[in-house]
Amino acid sequence: MYKILRKEILSANIKLMEIFAPKVAQKAAPGQFIILRIDEQGERIPLTIADFNAEKGTITMIFQEVGKTTSQLGTMKVGDSIRDFLGPLGIPMHIKNYGRVVCVGGGVGVAPLYPQARALKQAGNEIISIIGARSKSILFWEDEIHKVSDKSYITTDDGSYGHHGFVSDILKRLLEEKERIDRIIAIGPIPMMRVLCELTKPYNVPTFVSLNSIMVDGTGMCGCCRVTIGDEVKFTCVDGPDFDGHKVNFKELNARMKRFVPEEKEAMELFRKRSSCICQ
Ligand code: FAD
Ligand code: FES
Ligand code: MG
Repeated sequence: MYKILRKEILSANIKLMEIFAPKVAQKAAPGQFIILRIDEQGERIPLTIADFNAEKGTITMIFQEVGKTTSQLGTMKVGDSIRDFLGPLGIPMHIKNYGRVVCVGGGVGVAPLYPQARALKQAGNEIISIIGARSKSILFWEDEIHKVSDKSYITTDDGSYGHHGFVSDILKRLLEEKERIDRIIAIGPIPMMRVLCELTKPYNVPTFVSLNSIMVDGTGMCGCCRVTIGDEVKFTCVDGPDFDGHKVNFKELNARMKRFVPEEKEAMELFRKRSSCICQ
């Protein structure tokens, strides 16, 4: 059992949890993720390691409540325990001094971006960060990102804070102004990553994205997380989650992400009904 040591509500449906998982924390590296199962009946869901502390033996994760399992996780309190917590999984990000790296995060993608930006900064890179959200009220970790960046930009879709528009507007401006950029890391919703990759391709700037394909076992056995990278078939859980964004077949990924929507809706409705029965 893995105890919840800390819980923070970052915005209406985005929560942070720090979990006591010493064996995972000892081996964790930026870019990796865990797969958890809340209880015996629960499904397995992957979440990125947003932060880790080997001394304290803790893993921090930030999740957005989008369906049954993330909503159920969001109801758990400090002192409660999670049944299974598997990790660290995935290939750690390759850290070296590339020069000037632009780190782009959208929505809950800011969480996985942070440990990567911090590690790249520690390796001597100059970090330009661009983080975006739909609105100011759902933006989080602005200070954390700011601390590991030489320069940072904020965007909101509704103009409630920072630049009124998208993260791609800022990146486009930097590319057009011919700012030297040696590498781009982009983490966020699939449409955001696709647009950024289309934008950077003509400029030939290496652009790496973190894919969030549907996963079950997380060890390369079930094939659920299959993606096409160039003309190769890869499994996000063991070959990723980071890939060369210019080679990702985003159309296929997008379609594969939607293949269980009816079952997900049904599970959520059942969860809502059960929760309201318990509350009454
Ligand atoms: P559901 O209603 O079941 O699903 C909502 C949508 O989430 C689905 O349509 C599907 O596109 C996706 N999804 C559903 N089940 C899975 C699954 N088993 N694996 C992957 N995607 C699924 N989300 C965060 O909020 N924070 C993170 O740090 C984070 N890190 C991730 C890291 C990786 C490597 C991957 C693959 C995904 C990550 N996700 C993260 C996405 C997260 O796993 C899904 O939002 C979650 O599984 C949804 O479960 P649900 O039951 O709440 O919603
Ligand atoms: Fe099963 Fe990747 S999750 S192969
Ligand atoms: Mg689910």
